[in-house]
Amino acid sequence: MAKITASVFTSHVPAIGAAMDLGKTHEDYWKPLFAGYEFSKQWMKDNRPDVVFLVFNDHATAFSLDMIPTFAIGTADSYQPADEGWGPRPVPVVQGHGMLASHIAQSVIQQDFDLTIVNKMDVDHGLTVPLSLMCGSLDPKKDAWPCPVIPFAVNVVQYPIPSGQRCFNLGQAIRKAVESYDEDLNVHIWGTGGMSHQLQGPRAGLINQAWDSNFLDMLINDPVAAAAIPHIDYVREAGSEGIELVMWLIARGAMSDITDGKQQGTPPTLKHRFYHVPASNTAVGHAILENA
Ligand code: DHB
Ligand code: FE
Repeated sequence: MAKITASVFTSHVPAIGAAMDLGKTHEDYWKPLFAGYEFSKQWMKDNRPDVVFLVFNDHATAFSLDMIPTFAIGTADSYQPADEGWGPRPVPVVQGHGMLASHIAQSVIQQDFDLTIVNKMDVDHGLTVPLSLMCGSLDPKKDAWPCPVIPFAVNVVQYPIPSGQRCFNLGQAIRKAVESYDEDLNVHIWGTGGMSHQLQGPRAGLINQAWDSNFLDMLINDPVAAAAIPHIDYVREAGSEGIELVMWLIARGAMSDITDGKQQGTPPTLKHRFYHVPASNTAVGHAILENA
């Protein structure tokens, strides 16, 4: 049987990818940010998963106002990196896991969550920056990402967007789906995006360190309460793009201490927690949880 053994939470700022691709990680501005991921890169090597289920948001790369799926699962065998701004990143092509992804789609849809099935999709900084932070710089000509990735895109860009509670409930359905896959696979689930940031309007540049810190505490120790945070609180406190944080609740809801919407059983072990301001316009948060 496949099993979710760990969850990873991290921001996805595009400038982080550009800093890595342009060799700027040792500059004073970036050094403290990348120092926070040294532990994580070693942890990835020591706990290499068979598959990463990567919850992220697309930023008008694969989708546009023409088509706005709330939840979209990638069932393809590979995904090309693409991006706005700095352009497609020079990183390896992302290999998928069509078999497991199709199984999860079948199971989760039968558990009454509506997923869009995506057989062809380019992936932007929302997906490739978390991979780069966790796996380090790779040469697309000779390196590969350490394992296949199932991209799971959540619409947090164009309203209406899903609530944190729905994301948390979906995480539980995803765990059931993974655990009903008939092959021994070690699966990690990643929740990405956030933390506080606002890129537009009079409040552009907003960062709320106190709120972020409290969100990390709740996510780790009281995820049921974190799931109940209403949408308006994210927007008011963490900024219009801080709403990306609802995606972290999908990964947290998939951990083994959550059953029937309640926290029961042994909580996961916190392996790493990191927070840094600023990275571009964003507060960067990061945590790694291992199932008991
Ligand atoms: C920035 C952050 C994001 O989440 C994003 O998608 C684009 C830009 C930023 O901080 O610059
Ligand atoms: Fe973003």
